[in-house]
Amino acid sequence: MIGGIVEIVPLFYLENTIEKVEGMRPYTPLELAGRDIYVREGCYVCHSQMIRPFRDEVERYGHYSLAAESMYDHPFQWGSKRTGPDLARVGGRYSDEWHVAHLQDPRSVVPESVMPTYAFLSTTEVDIHNIGAHLAANRAVGVPYTDEMIASALADARTQGSATADATGLQGRYAKAGARDFDGNAAKLTEMDALVAYLQMLGTLVDVEAYKPAPAETLETSQ
Ligand code: HEC
Repeated sequence: MIGGIVEIVPLFYLENTIEKVEGMRPYTPLELAGRDIYVREGCYVCHSQMIRPFRDEVERYGHYSLAAESMYDHPFQWGSKRTGPDLARVGGRYSDEWHVAHLQDPRSVVPESVMPTYAFLSTTEVDIHNIGAHLAANRAVGVPYTDEMIASALADARTQGSATADATGLQGRYAKAGARDFDGNAAKLTEMDALVAYLQMLGTLVDVEAYKPAPAETLETSQ
């Protein structure tokens, strides 16, 4: 217990436990809805979202995860089991069509996959009627959503899932937000739209190549 206190308590007082990095922003309403589906379906039971600074992981998945990249996760999705690959940087790695085909029937694209099918996501309309309240709840635990973001949450969610709506306002509020018809079905805003929007954003917000770790002398380590 004493060892735990000695190791953990200083982290609460360190200025740089979470270093500030450029580009990290709160999730868009549609990404947040997709994240809820990710949690609801227990994707974290088989997938982690934390690339450790080991050569094999960095070569396979990309730059190791920064603490700031999960600072708006409530609850965090680091995971503790890897039946499937780490997903922290899966955004942009595959096309939307690949994700839809894979979630509908993983064996159609990866014959040896043991991942379950989630075909119902394509036919289930995503429940966003209280998405503004959901943003407000995240704000209560520290995510910097503005009043404007909360007021336009429902419209922003619909805009992001549409191939034709004008996304200028959405992208002004949320940098780099990809707006399109993610599931290829323009008639409905489905849970598939939301989940694919979330997956395609993962790991794409921070320009990790431009990131420079704080110089060692500014780190208050015990050594
Ligand atoms: C029973 C374990 C299991 C569950 C639950 C599971 N997956 Fe997977 N997933 C896997 C395995 C194994 C693979 C690797 C084979 C493949 O690509 O299908 C994988 C691959 C993936 C990939 C491709 C990753 C890459 O880099 O190639 C994505 C994306 C993915 N899963 C998303 C999800 C999402 C989203 C959910 C929840 C809706 C989910 N998975 C639930 C086991 C699982």
